Amino acid sequence: MNLKDEYIKFFVSKGHKQIPSAPVVPENDPSVLFNTAGMQPLIPYLMGEEHPYGKRLVDYQKCIRTNDLDSIGDKTHHTFFEMLGNWSLGDYFKKESIGYSIEFLTQVLHIPLNKLAVTVFKGNDMIGPDKESAEAWISHGIKKERIAYMGEEDNWWPNMENIGPCGSDTEIFYFSSEEEVPEVFDPEDDRWVEIWNNVFMEYNHNEDGTFTLLPKKNVDTGMGYERVVAILEGVSDNYKSSVWKSIIDTICRVSNRSYEGNEESIRIIADHIRTSVFIAADKSGIKPSNTDQGYILRRLIRRSIRHAKKLGIDIESDWDKEIALSVIEEYSKYYSELEENKDVVLEVLKSEKIKFNRTLEKGLREFEKIMRKLDEDTLCKEDAFRLYDTYGFPIELTVELAGERGRSVDIKGFKEKFKAHQELSRTQSKGKFKGGLAGGGEMETKYHTATHLLNAALRKVVGSGVHQKGSNITSERMRFDFSCDHKLSEEEKEQVEELVNKWISEKIDVLKEEMPKEEAIKSGAECMFIEKYPDIVTVYSIGDFSRELCGGPHVKNTGELGTFKIIKEEASSAGVRRIKAVLSDE
Ligand code: SER
Repeated sequence: MNLKDEYIKFFVSKGHKQIPSAPVVPENDPSVLFNTAGMQPLIPYLMGEEHPYGKRLVDYQKCIRTNDLDSIGDKTHHTFFEMLGNWSLGDYFKKESIGYSIEFLTQVLHIPLNKLAVTVFKGNDMIGPDKESAEAWISHGIKKERIAYMGEEDNWWPNMENIGPCGSDTEIFYFSSEEEVPEVFDPEDDRWVEIWNNVFMEYNHNEDGTFTLLPKKNVDTGMGYERVVAILEGVSDNYKSSVWKSIIDTICRVSNRSYEGNEESIRIIADHIRTSVFIAADKSGIKPSNTDQGYILRRLIRRSIRHAKKLGIDIESDWDKEIALSVIEEYSKYYSELEENKDVVLEVLKSEKIKFNRTLEKGLREFEKIMRKLDEDTLCKEDAFRLYDTYGFPIELTVELAGERGRSVDIKGFKEKFKAHQELSRTQSKGKFKGGLAGGGEMETKYHTATHLLNAALRKVVGSGVHQKGSNITSERMRFDFSCDHKLSEEEKEQVEELVNKWISEKIDVLKEEMPKEEAIKSGAECMFIEKYPDIVTVYSIGDFSRELCGGPHVKNTGELGTFKIIKEEASSAGVRRIKAVLSDE
């Protein structure tokens, strides 16, 4: 019996339409890097839009959670997982949803009723205790002692802070131990494990903090596939369930090691390669990089290489290809994109391996240099972070290498720096998505490049004391604020305009390079707030007169810009002037 197939079959028999899994990179929710729950792609429909497949839906959805990447290696965490879900979009509600859950668990999975317990919402200022759910459970034979009423922290999904559709839920627990099942359900007793969550989505949490009723009452249920398979198969280590068998067998074969005694590295390789295969095969076409989803992909591949080395695998061999192929074989029945994009996946793994091997050597040289200069016992957080960020050294590698020389690493300091960096990239990626969506059009892109030309022209005409203080771009015009102690003369304005137009007419290529931040600064690149940039930055240069740290986007050649014209020059604030300018086709 396969849980996924049985689940779909059951809900289809109850009038649900199977919908395909959405891509793992959200198509219309720029606030997150990956889908983290089955309901995420359905948000517009939970908010009231009509779904083309109707009101009753069922699926298995690819999800990725990266918030505890560092916990991977233990028995229960996975980065990638599948979530089984069924939905009612304004159709059935609590009673029927609970009826389906009980029927599926007891009739299809043959779980004895006595091994089940549930939590229901105890109520808050907005709604009373969820007696309707409790009664529904009781009507299906769940004893009163097996129902626990819990508060917002446990039985409100996703939580009280998140903006968007939400509601109270009822969670189903399974008694996972062979011991006698206690009469009274104690949610604190960890022999009871959560297997299914039925959310009754009837509210929208608005931006202004208020909760309003959604146009329809919906049901959103979610069941973590790998977890439930492990529970049903009675294994306490998720990686020992049938879900992982062929992948782990492949890793044991290519490393010539047994699972026992090498669990941590084998789990990490299995999880990370499986996730990498799914990211690389996704419709979104993510490639390893230093930002956003690409950075996650890079980290996953590099960490799996590092653990393959630990197991003594010859990195140059096809070990990664073989593991990836076993993932593809295992899953392509459910996700045809894996087979379709097989070559892309294998190429991503291969080229990232080559890149990492290169930086690994450079990083080792850098490490030796640090060691030679080190006169204390502890490698400082700055060096540890540089090894991580510029050379892709996972902190464990630095710690291990330092340990071999009897030195330690300021791990706490590293973690703080790492956290600050993560927060920064999160804010940046949010900002970038916004900027990208709102400002990535053709005209905006042109204005973006014109900003760099204007900046360079002002520095040539007015003086090198000019620095950018801000900018704002719409598809209609650009606005540029810069440090300058005087009102520009007509002559200065004319010269600036002429110079920008001269560079445009010279049709100069705009070059884009990635490099460590320090190198960029040394090379004389301009930037507004150096501390706001990650350690690896993008530098755009135009001819020999403009070089700036910038996230883009930019045109490929200045010839694309048209005619540049200043329409206004005015004071912005003390010591800061503001120019408004337009580009036209004349
Ligand atoms: N959205 C809920 C969850 O992720 C139920 O699907 O648990």
